Amino acid sequence: MNVLLIGSGGREHAIAWKLAQSKRLSKLFIAPGNPGTAQCGQNIAIDVNNTKKLLECAQQNKVELVVVGPEDPLAGGIVDTFEAAGIKAFGPSGKAAQLEADKAFAKHLMRSSSISTAEGRSFDRFSDAKAYIASRDEPVVIKAAGLAKGKGVYVCDDPSDGILAAEKIMQDKIFGSAGDTIIVEDKLLGEEASILAFVDGRNIYLMESSQDHKPIGDGDTGPNTGGMGAYSPAPIVTDALMNQITREILVPVVDGMNRNGTPYKGVLYAGLMMTAGGPRVLEFNVRFGDPETQPILMRLKSDLLEVLLATCNGTLDEVTLNWDPRPAVCVVMASGGYPGDYEKGKIITGLDDVRELEDVVVFHAGTKEQNGDIVTSGGRVLGVTALGKTIADAKAAAYEGVDRITFDGVYYRRDIADKAIHVA
Ligand code: AMP
Ligand code: GLY
Repeated sequence: MNVLLIGSGGREHAIAWKLAQSKRLSKLFIAPGNPGTAQCGQNIAIDVNNTKKLLECAQQNKVELVVVGPEDPLAGGIVDTFEAAGIKAFGPSGKAAQLEADKAFAKHLMRSSSISTAEGRSFDRFSDAKAYIASRDEPVVIKAAGLAKGKGVYVCDDPSDGILAAEKIMQDKIFGSAGDTIIVEDKLLGEEASILAFVDGRNIYLMESSQDHKPIGDGDTGPNTGGMGAYSPAPIVTDALMNQITREILVPVVDGMNRNGTPYKGVLYAGLMMTAGGPRVLEFNVRFGDPETQPILMRLKSDLLEVLLATCNGTLDEVTLNWDPRPAVCVVMASGGYPGDYEKGKIITGLDDVRELEDVVVFHAGTKEQNGDIVTSGGRVLGVTALGKTIADAKAAAYEGVDRITFDGVYYRRDIADKAIHVA
């Protein structure tokens, strides 16, 4: 079967790497892909939001399954377009993708489905938001309601910083129209975890747990990023908690989406805070997480293509996912300056040296080929991902890979997975 994968991040390299291992795969196309995905299939230079060209490409290449990585094209309804043309597409419809693309929609759904989340209010006028935030004396979390590449959330211990954040989002429009509406939320305390599940409209099949590291700095300091590293499993999420999360969060969301007339299909990603009062939802994403997908898929033993097809066909109850019991850790190597401004075009060296390491894979994200070199071309550049007997071993192996790679201005966190090592 020919497959078209849409996207160009570390997540898509991990998906391409796993799909390339499938017995059912004939040819894999990746649009636009990166130098990493080029080792797993054929890159095609079409932008992720150019639905017309992507559809033409799928038709010309007899593609039978389209896999959509990022949220933007999902929110734009790309799955609806492919399905209308008779091509299977993995991911939710444009309407169902509002669960991620519109945080006000997500809050509403959670409230009407009695799903535990932070108390929050939405505002579409800055003056109202400002008056509300000023009236509070506890920490606040300010969120752009629309899509902001994981950077639209400000956790403010001092409400006056909350007003500044609201101003940047609503008045200065730093995220464009994604900041027309904001959510002002209570700050939740606890440890975070990401729970990803395949959902076929009816059946829910959980993947292994994972944990991201959103802030740029060691010890979770500084501004939020798309994610600086991840590990799987997250020891904080016990089997009992997984059952509770399924019962109290995932099942009610899938039911709520059905009741809403926006049935859900694809990966449902619940970003959770494990509070003293139990798991609470921070956000939903409608796709694989990045970088969580890198360690998760390194641990998946089953054929990913079979699972994606079963999700599209509504037959998830017929598949079994097998996992490598060994933990995996992914360390993101970023361009200096990210999540703010950064330079591009820095030559990356050492990639070949990492190939000698067993159970270490370097997933490409913001890279490109230039005159025979691999150079940086984005904020998050590489995700060095390793399996290990214990989480500490996996961490050591990932950092051994990181140590062999360098580029001008490289930045990475040095404490990825420490939280898990302390729990385990
Ligand atoms: P989100 O994109 O909504 O997951 O938010 C990004 C990050 O901001 C999360 O991974 C948390 O680290 C943090 N965050 C979001 N909402 C809250 C909240 N209500 N309380 C504390 N931290 C939060
Ligand atoms: N790692 C967070 C995300 O994928 O949104």
